[in-house]
Amino acid sequence: MAETTYYIDEDVGQDSTSQNGDETSPYKSLGFAVLSHGEWHKFVTRKSDTGDAPEGSDATATSEWKPVAKAAMKKAVNYAKTQKKKAEKEQEQLVLRTKEDADRKKVLEEAKKIVIEEDSSLPTPIRIKLDDTAPEKIKLGNGSDTKGTRVRVFGRVHRERRQKEVMFLTLKDGYGLMQVIFTGPLAKTYDALTLTRETSIEILGELRAVPEGAHAPNGRELHADFYKIHSGWKAAGGEDAITNRVSKDTEHATLLDLRHLTLRGETASKVMIVRDAVEFAFNTVYKELRLRKVSPPALVQTQVEGGATLFKFGYYNEEAYLTQSSQLYLETCLPSMGDVYCIEKSFRAEKSLTRRHLAEYTHIEAELDFINFNDLLDHLEEVMCRVLEVTMADPAIKQYILDLNPEFQVPERPFTRMKYQDAIDWLVEHKIPNEHGEPHKFGDDIAEAAERRMTDIINRPIFLTHFPTEIKAFYMLKDKDDARVTESVDCLMPGVGEIVGGSMRMDEYDELMAGFAREQIDPAAYYWYTDQRKYGSSPHGGYGLGLERFLAWLCKQHTVRDCCLYPRYFGRCKP
Ligand code: 4AD
Repeated sequence: MAETTYYIDEDVGQDSTSQNGDETSPYKSLGFAVLSHGEWHKFVTRKSDTGDAPEGSDATATSEWKPVAKAAMKKAVNYAKTQKKKAEKEQEQLVLRTKEDADRKKVLEEAKKIVIEEDSSLPTPIRIKLDDTAPEKIKLGNGSDTKGTRVRVFGRVHRERRQKEVMFLTLKDGYGLMQVIFTGPLAKTYDALTLTRETSIEILGELRAVPEGAHAPNGRELHADFYKIHSGWKAAGGEDAITNRVSKDTEHATLLDLRHLTLRGETASKVMIVRDAVEFAFNTVYKELRLRKVSPPALVQTQVEGGATLFKFGYYNEEAYLTQSSQLYLETCLPSMGDVYCIEKSFRAEKSLTRRHLAEYTHIEAELDFINFNDLLDHLEEVMCRVLEVTMADPAIKQYILDLNPEFQVPERPFTRMKYQDAIDWLVEHKIPNEHGEPHKFGDDIAEAAERRMTDIINRPIFLTHFPTEIKAFYMLKDKDDARVTESVDCLMPGVGEIVGGSMRMDEYDELMAGFAREQIDPAAYYWYTDQRKYGSSPHGGYGLGLERFLAWLCKQHTVRDCCLYPRYFGRCKP
């Protein structure tokens, strides 16, 4: 091939196939020129030099074309070689991919011809949930001389794994997991070959014990003889597959935007199932203790825990709020129903983005009549421990809790009881400062960080009692022996801090009015509450427990946001 001269001008040249590399149409880089034409040509280069141009002039002085330096040539040759190799490799891969695509297409086309049908000579299957192990209806086969029960199950594909002729699925249905095996034509249909995670499927087959040494949920596997996947049941695959939308590494904010998908994950679904069990246990325990359940209103015109966190809204022509607590309404039920409780939503317009604050949370509240402060603390301890015992009595739920929080143990009774004053002394002793960076003093609201550090160091449930009147709500009863403090309690748990707030209530009319005055609340709207002190008052008290905080502690979750279905907090009201 004849030697040609190619021109390279870093300033005005272009690395493009539209250039031909002659003097009027130079390339920008030597590497590109060598890659395009080979190294055996002559390459010349020049540099524009603006240094000598007169001020204010656009003119550029351009030097002569000179052969390229040896070192530059060596570099360009290497560059061209690597680029060439890369291009060859890409080409090879493209060929391979095209072939694979064609092969797969062919396999899929063939697979479409494989039609499976249910064998009508097999025993009628029984419908079970995936965790069903009732021995009176389910017998496990061993694959040789013992036949297992033939069952029909519905679920979604949680995981799938292919071996040459066999497909293993892990199916989930919200109750449990089941290992399923497809063999023969079942593993070769179009549906099997294109099966995506989360696809819903109906499967029939025989339940057998897993071979010795192998592991599967409930020690069994379903040997499928037939399955059905309706076209509308298939889950998105490829780019849109669920695994590309939510995974362990996805940012928490994205996980919350995609909460509807996050909920399908193992951790989120375990927390939600434990939540169901815990809520049920509260109902059970309250029944045992003869408390009656009521359902107070959510739309109210009175505050309970301070005006700063009220959600206001227009109620026809009036102003109303979303309830902060059902406590005042519970108090009104005591004369007619005895001890009462409710499990309702409470709303707090918290502007804080802490891991334990929600704008909407589930509040478990109870109110007890004719009690003293000690009775209240004893009851609270009893309820919390019984709820845990009842919850843990279900082996599946216990296992979920231990999966989430392996070190969990039901706390020992009695809980540590500590007066506010002693907590202040403890914080000073342990050099844990208040919010202003100063040593704690009587009257300080113990802030979240200090409270959590103290709870984590003590590392067991604490009943913190006798808070100063000034930092507590208008309705709290003063301690007869020390008027500076109230008969109040917060229950603090390691890892979370306060999960319960409660107190004895002022039961005398005049004292309550003084409480309103102190907090500068107009008592007029509270006539229905203050009337309780006019028509047969009583010593009574109660508390509120944040279900999400209780769960964050029980299930060792970093934030209460992961302990409710669709969390609402400052800045989030979706999905
Ligand atoms: O301490 P609090 O504000 O007490 C009351 O509302 C009382 N009126 C309850 C009563 O005596 N019936 O709230 C009680 C509990 C807290 O300990 C905490 O667990 C939870 O409710 N809580 C919250 N949980 C999540 N997000 C928030 N913003 C919460 N505010 C309170």
